[in-house]
Amino acid sequence: MSFKASVQHFQTLVMSFHPVIVMETVEEERVQALMHRACTDMQIAVFEWSIAQGLMRSPESPENRWQNEYAPPGGKRGQAIGKTAEPLDLLRHIQEISFKAIYWLKDFAPHLKDPLVARQFREVAQQFSLNRSTLVISGSGHPLPPEIAHDAVYVDLKLPEPEELYGAVGEVVRALKGRVKVELTPEEIHALVKALQGMTLSQTRKVVSYAALHDGKLNGEDIQRVQERKARVIHEEGLLDYFPPETNLAQLGGFEGLKRWLAYAKIGFTPQARQYNLPAPKGILIVGIQGCGKSLAAKTIARQWNLPLLKLDAGRLYDKYIGESDKNFRRAITLAETMAPCILWIDEIEKSMGQSHSEADGGLSRRLFGYFLTWLQEKSQEIFVVATANDLSAIPPELLRKGRFDEIFFVDLPEAGEREHILRIHLLRRNQGLDAYDLPTLVSATEGFSGAELEQAVITAHYRALYESRPALLLEEIKRTVPLSVTRREDIQRLRAIAQERFVSAR
Ligand SMILES: Nc1ncnc2c1ncn2[C@@H]1O[C@H](COP(=O)(O)OP(=O)(O)OP(=O)(O)O)[C@@H](O)[C@H]1O
Ligand SMILES: [Mg+2]
Repeated sequence: MSFKASVQHFQTLVMSFHPVIVMETVEEERVQALMHRACTDMQIAVFEWSIAQGLMRSPESPENRWQNEYAPPGGKRGQAIGKTAEPLDLLRHIQEISFKAIYWLKDFAPHLKDPLVARQFREVAQQFSLNRSTLVISGSGHPLPPEIAHDAVYVDLKLPEPEELYGAVGEVVRALKGRVKVELTPEEIHALVKALQGMTLSQTRKVVSYAALHDGKLNGEDIQRVQERKARVIHEEGLLDYFPPETNLAQLGGFEGLKRWLAYAKIGFTPQARQYNLPAPKGILIVGIQGCGKSLAAKTIARQWNLPLLKLDAGRLYDKYIGESDKNFRRAITLAETMAPCILWIDEIEKSMGQSHSEADGGLSRRLFGYFLTWLQEKSQEIFVVATANDLSAIPPELLRKGRFDEIFFVDLPEAGEREHILRIHLLRRNQGLDAYDLPTLVSATEGFSGAELEQAVITAHYRALYESRPALLLEEIKRTVPLSVTRREDIQRLRAIAQERFVSAR
């Protein structure tokens, strides 16, 4: 929803007798911008409250943040009205105010744990549903008590749009005038704003100021810096890991079938495809044997298409207490949407949405799964989903049905040619001349090895070689290894039997 649409949505809610509106965000400046825009049009008074400041009339314009009719002449800060800092006093006070108004209560949810405050709040809300005043609660991380949630309506403040980010960059540049040199072409500005997408306005200001101040310049080089910073910010938020295209060096051996598919699916993102009313590709699922490069394939796709890669950490989705997981998941998807076109990688999807959870978590993973399926079906943004899975039995069958994903690929243990390719990749990565190795012998000795096991043999052989100051004895190392295909033969055969007849080979 664009900013303008959010404003309209908010106005409609206020006019249609919604006494309690909740905005789950810590970005108070955006709440303020939205309410200011909405209420100026509607000509309604706005008051704001925080436990630290008490209740005060909101400033007439966001530029005069602290000036209001209660401020003394020339004073910068507003003054609280009466004795209103305590939640209960506040609620009793606004119950007495007879004209129509909007009361923005910052971080109010935790106070509603007190039964007296909660009851008083409900009484105010009931009164407001008759006289069309509205309580707006902002804040994050505290669910409302159910009896209050019942009367509340939630407004999602999406992450800032390019225009807003552009505005924030402009603000920083103006604020730093004289102290930094700005050398950005229009294309670079565009790229900078793109790199900022997915961050909040305050993060944007910090990141851009930092990039500019640290060498006194804001130029094309800072785009990369902003991207790296964004990766960290997103990681700290806790749900997604971000891999900018520039830092993605994944190299995948084999997978010729998948690579061919990707080459033509890429056409689906072009304007020509739109002319023919062809939809953009939705995503693929890669199932297969452990250590055979499923995760690596996800990275390779991002690299091949030169798109940012976002990895959804399923484990962390469940980390927090359960009520939060749905919201976390939606937030992750919202973030991905602001960064489109991008690749959303859901590693080991059976762990976040599989059936194993459904008993233990009161249906949460089912709900998440339902939400995900709907989103996958209806999403219009250019987000390509790459899901990976090991354990077919834990995947809900709905996910495997035709039409959910564009294609489901099965990854088997690598064949001879693929093993050679994989060995080459890993030897070259360790700065080895290939002439020193008898590749055909190594290839035939590694029948049944996964890519991960091939890599591990290369690494261990080189550890030993360094330790003993002699050339690497790769063949010996290989002979020492007992691959999973031996120790878990039956599991692998079962997976193969199901997958081979139903899915396309990645090979
Ligand atoms: N086809 C391949 N080409 C190059 N390297 C590979 C290949 N397959 C596996 N590897 C190496 O093995 C490592 C592990 O592979 P990866 O994590 O992608 O396997 P996976 O199929 O996701 O396994 P898991 O099921 O355990 O998650 C990779 O980081 C890579 O170094
Ligand atoms: Mg993996």
